[in-house]
Amino acid sequence: MNAVSAFGDRWVAVSGASSGIGRGIALQLVAQGARVALIGRNVERLHETAELAGPAERTRVCPIDLAELNGIAPAVRALAEQTGRLYGLCHAAGLAQTLPLAATRPDRVRTLMDINFQAGLELARALCERAVLREDGGSVLWISSVYAHVGAPGQIAYCATKGAVAAAVRAMALELAPRRVRVNCVSPGLVKTAMTASAGSRMTAEQWSRIEALHPLGAGSVQDVARAASFLLDPFNAWVTGADLVIDGGYSLQ
Ligand SMILES: NC(=O)c1ccc[n+]([C@@H]2O[C@H](COP(=O)([O-])OP(=O)(O)OC[C@H]3O[C@@H](n4cnc5c(N)ncnc54)[C@H](OP(=O)(O)O)[C@@H]3O)[C@@H](O)[C@H]2O)c1
Repeated sequence: MNAVSAFGDRWVAVSGASSGIGRGIALQLVAQGARVALIGRNVERLHETAELAGPAERTRVCPIDLAELNGIAPAVRALAEQTGRLYGLCHAAGLAQTLPLAATRPDRVRTLMDINFQAGLELARALCERAVLREDGGSVLWISSVYAHVGAPGQIAYCATKGAVAAAVRAMALELAPRRVRVNCVSPGLVKTAMTASAGSRMTAEQWSRIEALHPLGAGSVQDVARAASFLLDPFNAWVTGADLVIDGGYSLQ
């Protein structure tokens, strides 16, 4: 345990650890003393995250394709058999796709919902199995989005997936409190990552700067989100549950 953190070697599984926000959270958690299971599909980039994190015993690369929903719980059980019981989960894996109403199709919406919501639910369900979760409780963190709170053209499906996350967090926090499992989410605004670079590559420089300018404090960094995530996951903050921490540089205040 250090002065600002109580992870004390506890294991936290982080999905999306191969890139962007998930990688930033994994690195922050290791810096705070946690041990981190790195979940993603791209094994090479998961190993890069492990190398950036430092000592090999602080991380474990755990390749899982979250689109295979039925494979998630067995993979988490197998992980816990190797590491010992887990304390926490951060579901940072996610997909974004601009889909105006005319372009929405059941399969496209399902793909977004599967990764952004259902996969997180499967991860949380597996974490909470008695053989997987530490007996003294745990902490679940979802990465939602400011789009759970405000709308944007072309983002009907993405907003719906993040709205589902925000609503589920409140219900899960109540259901799991008797087991000392806290459940929270963060709702970031624009953060520069592979996801936003890919969206940005389809925009003109002018369109991109217009979106950035909507954030009074400018675009956020991965570290801005990682610090908030680590606060919510940390066992020190044992009375924080059901929170939805909007970190968007003031975007949603207007
Ligand atoms: N960037 C922003 O401005 C922003 C704002 C608000 C909310 N968010 C949310 O923050 C989260 C992270 O976004 P990001 O910007 O960091 O995106 P990113 O850099 O594109 O990373 C997305 C991550 O999701 C993982 N992933 C996607 N599909 C997967 C699958 N089928 N199985 C396993 N892993 C999968 C990717 O792993 P592989 O590469 O290994 O497949 C990758 O690690 C998302 O939930 C996003 O909605 C982002």
